[in-house]
Amino acid sequence: MGDDAKPVTVPRFVRAKADGRRLVMLTAYDFLWARLLDEAGVDALLVGDSLGMVVQGQPNTLSVTLEEMIYHARLVTRAVRRALVVVDMPFLSYQVSVQEAVRNAGRILKETGAPAVKLESGPGQAETIAALTRAGIPVMAHIGMRPQAVHLMGGLGRIQRDADRLLADAREVADAGAFGIVLELIPAGVARRITQAVSVPTIGIGAGPHCDGQVLVTPDLLGLTEDFRPKFVKRYAELAGAVKSAVRQYADEVRGGTFPGPEHTHDA
Ligand code: KIV
Repeated sequence: MGDDAKPVTVPRFVRAKADGRRLVMLTAYDFLWARLLDEAGVDALLVGDSLGMVVQGQPNTLSVTLEEMIYHARLVTRAVRRALVVVDMPFLSYQVSVQEAVRNAGRILKETGAPAVKLESGPGQAETIAALTRAGIPVMAHIGMRPQAVHLMGGLGRIQRDADRLLADAREVADAGAFGIVLELIPAGVARRITQAVSVPTIGIGAGPHCDGQVLVTPDLLGLTEDFRPKFVKRYAELAGAVKSAVRQYADEVRGGTFPGPEHTHDA
């Protein structure tokens, strides 16, 4: 999609697969970064509940609330001109009942202006995806490693290797109406089989090169999360070091009396 200035709608996102155009997705949590990433030409921005970890400093995503997701999604939609904005449904906002899921997803669309939601699709979520789709709410599914199931999986970052189960999960959510599927932390061969088996785009994170698109957590790709270095993340910049070095220089100049200099000072 890349250079095309037209807004990425859900149907355009889905068509990219048939057209053989790989999809580029990143996470965004606020206006500043969403504007930069949108202007850089990403196809989709995910307001991920990973904000619980990267913005709020929590050990996992479980404590993130619907109100917090709505707040961050508003900041992102205010900035975006082209990318498709997808908002994560946080833990317990869709698992209790289909009715609650529709009400909460509806709030996300009504109160943020985002056109789509994502939910982690464990057993039993097909009915929810179908109900949301019937209500006119586009849903991206998320299978493989599901961070909201952290305690069931015995921790984050566990590679999911049960190919039959993953293929069944992917077929089930696609049949239920999901317009895309995030595949997190699964072997590349399994991701390839899933990508061939479903007609909607697969978006990989730690799932190898055969998906229809890729997503990363933006602070990881930019080298802002210094201590998090899993194999699947390529760091395209080392911004943590750059930020600290700029701030140290500023501090030295303030303490040494060389900032502000005459060029930064208004006379009379
Ligand atoms: O919350 C998130 O950022 C995500 C991505 C890791 C896909 O779900």
